[in-house]
Amino acid sequence: MVNAQTPELPQDLVELGRRLSDLGRACRLLAHTGSTNDDVRDWAKAGAPTGAVVIADTQIHGRGRHQRPWSTPPGETLASSVLVRPALSPQDLPKVALVAGLAARHAVALALGDRGVARIKWPNDVFVGERKIAGVLVEGALSGARVEHAVVGIGINVARKDFPPELAGVATSLSREGGVVDRVQLALDLFAALDVELARLLADPDSLGARLAPHDLLFGRRVLLDDGRVGVACGVAHDGRLQVDLEDGERFLARAGEIRLEPAQS
Ligand code: BTN
Repeated sequence: MVNAQTPELPQDLVELGRRLSDLGRACRLLAHTGSTNDDVRDWAKAGAPTGAVVIADTQIHGRGRHQRPWSTPPGETLASSVLVRPALSPQDLPKVALVAGLAARHAVALALGDRGVARIKWPNDVFVGERKIAGVLVEGALSGARVEHAVVGIGINVARKDFPPELAGVATSLSREGGVVDRVQLALDLFAALDVELARLLADPDSLGARLAPHDLLFGRRVLLDDGRVGVACGVAHDGRLQVDLEDGERFLARAGEIRLEPAQS
């Protein structure tokens, strides 16, 4: 059930609608929208099936974590949101964001080939070199002690050549890195990887740290905790928290939002 908003829809997204299967079989393709995360949330309330996907060519109110704006100029990004209903407790919801980051990294790596190395800046930003190419925003709806559903929003910079001054030194795109610019293949790779990663998470939740380890951009880097303490990132724990060896010898387990790279390195 692919519902494509035509005739404004770019041809590549029309082609994507034809080729989607499994995750994404229920799919809405939009030329423009406010935020695909909001669309999926509303669709979920109206009974959308698990795996439902909304993809938009451009978003007017695309948002990132911490309510930061996420810009999606027409034809230049892949902006998608997926509805999942994982059998997880609310405290495990951040793990969904981590596996979404793994899936986005995988799709970016396939598009880059040997032109660059895609890594994860914990918890779920995808970087090429020192620049961010993709981000993840997971928004969950809870029902008592369980996750009723989660909206997994993933934004990938595909063909962006120019960024506003505040992002120019810290953001990149597949086209800037010399990667393959093909939103159809990218989306297919992304959803296939997300399907696999979610299944792995549910089957073997404690393998998360090992799955992230080969792609960990922060490993060995100095990070700053919210409370001012400084340490060195030393891998992701099996439960998805970042392990930080502090200067006083203590090992701290950080949750998302509790650390940042030391200013000199960020
Ligand atoms: C971040 O890095 O802060 C997360 C960025 C997430 C952006 C995506 S684009 C598709 C979906 N819709 C949104 O409004 N946000 C996410």
